[in-house]
Amino acid sequence: MNKISTKLAAAFFIVVFIMELFLMTYLHQNMIHTRVNEEFSRLLSNGTNHRDVLVENYSNTTIEHIVMMEENVDREVMITNNRGEIINRSSDSVLEEFHTLIMNLENTEDSIVVSDWRNSPYIVSAHPYHVNDGTSGYVVMFQSTASINQMVKSENMHFVISGVTGIIVLFIVYAVLSKILTRPLLRMKEATEKISKGDFNVSLPYLGKDELGDLSSSIQKLAKDLAHLKNERNEFLASISHELSTPLTYLIGYSKVAMRKGLTEEERAHYLEIIAEESERMRELVKNLLDLARMDETTFTVSKEHFFARSFFENVCKLVIPSYEIKNIKLNLICDEDLQVYADPVRLEQIILNLLDNALKYSNQHSEVSLKAQKSKNKTIISVIDNGIGIPLDEIEFIFEKLYRVEKSRSRLFGGSGIGLAVVKELVEAHSGTIEVKSKLGEGSEFRITI
Ligand SMILES: Nc1ncnc2c1ncn2[C@@H]1O[C@H](COP(=O)(O)OP(=O)(O)OP(=O)(O)O)[C@@H](O)[C@H]1O
Ligand SMILES: [Mg+2]
Repeated sequence: MNKISTKLAAAFFIVVFIMELFLMTYLHQNMIHTRVNEEFSRLLSNGTNHRDVLVENYSNTTIEHIVMMEENVDREVMITNNRGEIINRSSDSVLEEFHTLIMNLENTEDSIVVSDWRNSPYIVSAHPYHVNDGTSGYVVMFQSTASINQMVKSENMHFVISGVTGIIVLFIVYAVLSKILTRPLLRMKEATEKISKGDFNVSLPYLGKDELGDLSSSIQKLAKDLAHLKNERNEFLASISHELSTPLTYLIGYSKVAMRKGLTEEERAHYLEIIAEESERMRELVKNLLDLARMDETTFTVSKEHFFARSFFENVCKLVIPSYEIKNIKLNLICDEDLQVYADPVRLEQIILNLLDNALKYSNQHSEVSLKAQKSKNKTIISVIDNGIGIPLDEIEFIFEKLYRVEKSRSRLFGGSGIGLAVVKELVEAHSGTIEVKSKLGEGSEFRITI
């Protein structure tokens, strides 16, 4: 009972079988009841006709006529007088069995007096008659039950045939159903087993738009995503090792140089300074990587609060102003006094610092950078706009990827590691916000956050 098809078939079989049994029994009973009632009515109406003719024209000739009429059919008739004696009858064969019944008839209306068609050889109806001269008695009709039993037998036969046909059809339906249902399920099972073994190269056929189709395309998508993730992880690890090995090479090189004998105090200090700077850069890189790793964990949460944006942004600007001044870049803050934001202030500061750092890094001397905040419905739009070197159109979609930098030559020039925007994106998404970029090579960029 492990196969889903067996379970389905068993359930399907039991339900349909019970339904079929119930319906067939109901139909069978109903049909037989109707047919037997028809026989009863026919017998009653024949008896009533004979009785009416007898009452209208009571004579021996009439009685003989009535008896004659029933002689060659599977019915018998008897006519009795008021003492229960038989005046005439169509056959002697029924007399033995029903003698006492005929002697003791008491019904005043036409009725069936023996209705047990299953056990009795005849069903019997009795029709009382009263003639004007005081003569009375019964017209008693007998209908052989052999024909009824024959009819029931043939009905039963029909029902058995249709029942067996029903079961055969049920089997065929089960076979087709289990094929349609289980084949794709088995293929999906194989596909998931393949995925769990690390082989993401699975191909499942298109199964339409029902639940099975959805499941199949979800598995296909899962395999694709996992393959992408695996690829991304490998690339990420390769980038990290490369990223870390560059400053390490410097560190090793400069420390060896600094250890050389015969260096002046100044030269040694210069090399040590380079070592300190490179170590600092490495520390920064490792810190950013750790931040990013922590953000990938599902436990990462932000604690949002309402606060005034203007004073918050002024404080952030204060942190970057010295480096902006060195490069002679003007930083404008455009934000209403009463504007309120709903965000995690620590995380938002991290976001803005990263964007301002980029704007500074990728702008030429004597240009301008604007930090703008405004309300839109119940959201806040924060933009960092620069007129720096811009990003090539075909690279925009990649800049949020971890360790991605536009042109490797740029990073040598500006010293970035390609983590900043990945961190920004994770932080914005943790706020359930969005980030968009508009940029034109050589004209400038705008990073717009909606939270
Ligand atoms: N304002 C901008 N103008 C032009 N290019 C930009 C701007 N902001 C980002 N970029 C490009 O996008 C790339 C990714 O930016 P990101 O902030 O992630 O990395 P980074 O600045 O190189 O290094 P990090 O921020 O980790 O020190 C950068 O290398 C840069 O080429
Ligand atoms: Mg950056």
